[in-house]
Amino acid sequence: MSVFVNGNAIFNDARKGHYAVGAFNTNNLEWTRAILQGAQETNTPVLIQVSMGAAKYMGDYKLVKTLVEEEMRVMNITVPVVMHLDHGNYEAAKECIEAGYSSVMFDGHDLPFDENLEKTKEIVKLAHAKGISVEAEVGSIGGEEDGIVGAGELASVEEAKAIAATGCDYLACGIGNIHGPYPENWTGLNFDRLKEIADAIDTPLVLHGGSGIPQEQIEKAISLGVSKVNINTENQLAFAAATRKYIEEGGDQNGKGYDPRKLLNPGYNAIVDTVKEIIGWLGTPSVK
Ligand code: 13P
Repeated sequence: MSVFVNGNAIFNDARKGHYAVGAFNTNNLEWTRAILQGAQETNTPVLIQVSMGAAKYMGDYKLVKTLVEEEMRVMNITVPVVMHLDHGNYEAAKECIEAGYSSVMFDGHDLPFDENLEKTKEIVKLAHAKGISVEAEVGSIGGEEDGIVGAGELASVEEAKAIAATGCDYLACGIGNIHGPYPENWTGLNFDRLKEIADAIDTPLVLHGGSGIPQEQIEKAISLGVSKVNINTENQLAFAAATRKYIEEGGDQNGKGYDPRKLLNPGYNAIVDTVKEIIGWLGTPSVK
């Protein structure tokens, strides 16, 4: 039996309860452990998600799933964990459905809309037959993440309705959000469009590009219907800053400070703290 839960129970409750659950990208063993530790310490559900690029870097989808599963075992993780594919193409979504993920994102934003719709339907059918939840995308997320590039097109309400009708479990919408750091001249999230979409469909909505959005905007987005918030860059920045500080202060030269387990520790702790802080922003309630 799988140790993972699928996203349905979590996100339907989240949408009704006006809170969100964090989906954190993993990149390696340290990231995986730090995300699990942050969620366990806050006693809240969590998604660990992997991009196609990060899965390739680490090995393959199965390896990532096994790593998360085995870390949950040795760390005695008791909070609900969703194993999710982030921005998968059609082939990746199918592979993760086979590999035992409990949730997959099929991102068809770069396809003609009708093809996005058809392929979303197919993935929903394959995934639901195995109790796996599906995230789909309308419009696009600006910027770039692991080779997935989007122009940041605003999601259309009609397209959101059509994709939601496929039975997908949660929906990522382009509402002015961007992967990676936000530029100085960013004008903020488009709350009018978010509200129009949230009023038109009951599907829980996903806010990609969560890193760097001011807390008040995240809270407002959650109050309007966002139930899943994706975070990758924030953890990368926290890890890099803590590692830089350690090295610049000569930590790697004191005693055996160059030992990778010591060298990576400040960055590791910075991810645990970041995950816990963001979970607090999202208002995710503790599991009973
Ligand atoms: P950030 O780059 O803002 O962390 O976004 C992560 C994300 O949306 C993953 O899909």
